[in-house]
Amino acid sequence: MSGIAVLISGRGSNLAAICNAGLDKSIRCVISNRADAPGLHIANKFNLPTYIIDHKQFNSREDFDREIAKIIDSHNSQYIILAGFMRILSDWFVHHYTERLVNIHPSLLPAFIGGNAIEQAFNTKVKISGVTIHFVTNQLDQGPIIAQGAVSATNCPNEGALADRIHRLEHILYPFIIRKLITGEVSLTGSVASVAKNNNDLDFLGEFAANIFY
Ligand code: GRF
Repeated sequence: MSGIAVLISGRGSNLAAICNAGLDKSIRCVISNRADAPGLHIANKFNLPTYIIDHKQFNSREDFDREIAKIIDSHNSQYIILAGFMRILSDWFVHHYTERLVNIHPSLLPAFIGGNAIEQAFNTKVKISGVTIHFVTNQLDQGPIIAQGAVSATNCPNEGALADRIHRLEHILYPFIIRKLITGEVSLTGSVASVAKNNNDLDFLGEFAANIFY
């Protein structure tokens, strides 16, 4: 097994960042549960195999997940990368991909769990927020943390301004960690994820380097 499957539901800006970082060659398939997800255009632009599986066509969450898993497994994808995939996954799916399922969440977990993390952070008037990349377990937005990055949440005139800062960071941090997953530089011991550091990391992280922890 090698490479990754990317699951999306919407805009696909993280998918674009992953592709633009040169990781498109490692993407075995892109799956969307929504036919109108703009991210599908990005997948097409990079000539990636795409699949639209509408969750509404299935009787249960697990039936839908089993259909997606058939596609992922037929492409021999080692890691399953959630990139704005707006579905809660069944226990069956999470178990099937133990230690292979990775998510990005737009807050410093465990703060601000759920679908409106940026809104929660903005309304709470926190001074710092950020991004968390973690292995997925059957607890929503929990699971071993692989990396986190921080952004200042001060002087954001509105939620959109905070979202912009967070998304810029996501687009650096997710490709960075996905590359390390692919090259075998991420390990998991019990509930502790570790990432090997190397000399090229600072070049890749650029202006964000000081605010990223892994
Ligand atoms: C990102 O903010 C990510 O943290 C969250 O969903 C959003 C997806 O955005 N899980 P996009 O579709 O990649 O633009």
